[in-house]
Amino acid sequence: GVACATIDFRAGARRVGRMGDRLPSNRFDVVVLGAGAAGMMCAIEAGKRGRSVLVVDHASAPGEKIRISGGGRCNFTNLNTQPANFLSQNPSFCISALRRYRARDFVALVDAHGIAYHEKAAGQLFCDGSATQIIQLLTGEMRRHKVELRLDTAVSGVERSGDGFAVALRRSQRRREGEAAPEAAEIASGGSLVVATGGKSIPKMGATGFGYQLAQQFGLAVVEPRPALVPLTLDPPSLERLRPAVGVAVEAAARLGRTQFEDGMLFTHRGLSGPAILQISSYWREGDDLTLSLAPGVDILAELKAARAANGRQAPQTALAALLPKRLAQLITEAVPGPVRLADWPDAQLRRLEAAVNRWTLKPAGSEGYRTAEVTLGGVDSRGLDSRTMAATGVAGLYFIGEVVDVTGWLGGYNFQWAWSSGWCAGQAV
Ligand code: FDA
Repeated sequence: GVACATIDFRAGARRVGRMGDRLPSNRFDVVVLGAGAAGMMCAIEAGKRGRSVLVVDHASAPGEKIRISGGGRCNFTNLNTQPANFLSQNPSFCISALRRYRARDFVALVDAHGIAYHEKAAGQLFCDGSATQIIQLLTGEMRRHKVELRLDTAVSGVERSGDGFAVALRRSQRRREGEAAPEAAEIASGGSLVVATGGKSIPKMGATGFGYQLAQQFGLAVVEPRPALVPLTLDPPSLERLRPAVGVAVEAAARLGRTQFEDGMLFTHRGLSGPAILQISSYWREGDDLTLSLAPGVDILAELKAARAANGRQAPQTALAALLPKRLAQLITEAVPGPVRLADWPDAQLRRLEAAVNRWTLKPAGSEGYRTAEVTLGGVDSRGLDSRTMAATGVAGLYFIGEVVDVTGWLGGYNFQWAWSSGWCAGQAV
């Protein structure tokens, strides 16, 4: 039960399509696939410009990732957003969009809706109340600008049809036991097709690789997607050794080559997590060694020497426990065996302790994968897109925005800012 219609390519035109007479409400200037952060922003802007806009999503609610973001409070932007906060095969691609629609532009929208927020870490803005306020802001603006939102609607295919496209839509089945969900066919047509279907992260919430397939179908290159902002796993022997530390959190620095993040780190049953690890995970590749500092900025050697001078009879783990969580101090002194009393430790041996604390090198086994990754690295190769409008350079009328594009932000509100900026830019052009 699938039907298609020719998309009328002249924006605003009202030429009757193949089935247009029968289903006039199914003709749109713009069809946006995906009611996430990017798709809704684009739809609002296109609606403001008088375009008739349809947004479709196979989920039952819009902005599901917004709802669960930032621990339910949505870290909706970062005031210090810079192109350097993004990973991409084409690092300069994001500059134009981030300039045209800045963090402060989104903040102005949040202010206009009277949503209270606070700055958590430097530049990171979170709702005081709930992430659903951001979803309400977006759905409210869509209504105001007459955007039609169709939920429970899957996109089963898109095809070029003359100088336009044919888009096949169907009701996605509501999963209720014993209920036979009839598959109704719907038709959408519009001048521009905007792909805002996001990345592969959190498949349980409906993430698919659909946008990548669509890009490839139209001849666009896709930079291999991989899970990013994701906890890293360790091999069984390392897990066994670190078991006593499970649940321990420290302020740590995680380093890979010249890239370093200093933030919280957590020992888990599977390996390492916490913001410092999520950040470095976007840079990590299988086989790479990570270097961790468990007490960054602390001169461990000087501290241990001072402790030795002040009280040589204490055990080394006692001295270390003044600088680190006790369970970590214990683990580290077990890994660097030596005399019972600190007084009997020569400087060379204290240096080994220092290295174990602040230059701990380890090789993660892998990552937890898309199941827990906050974002997807890679995606539609931006070298095939116009950096000002997000339009596919080789396929008139086709746009890619948000996470489906090979632009991936750090942790801290950057990914939503990319969604707003890229969505806004496409919204001015469709
Ligand atoms: P997004 O994934 O939001 O939307 C895509 C939409 O397309 C979805 O609604 C999906 O159902 C729909 N779709 C997919 N395939 C489809 C198909 N074939 N047919 C129809 N519809 C389809 N970022 C940040 O800046 N601050 C934060 O606090 C957080 N926190 C956070 C927490 C968690 C747990 C996760 C998983 C992620 C974050 N992020 C974040 C990242 C942020 O959520 C993400 O980068 C944006 O939601 C991306 O927005 P998009 O609109 O591009 O995709």
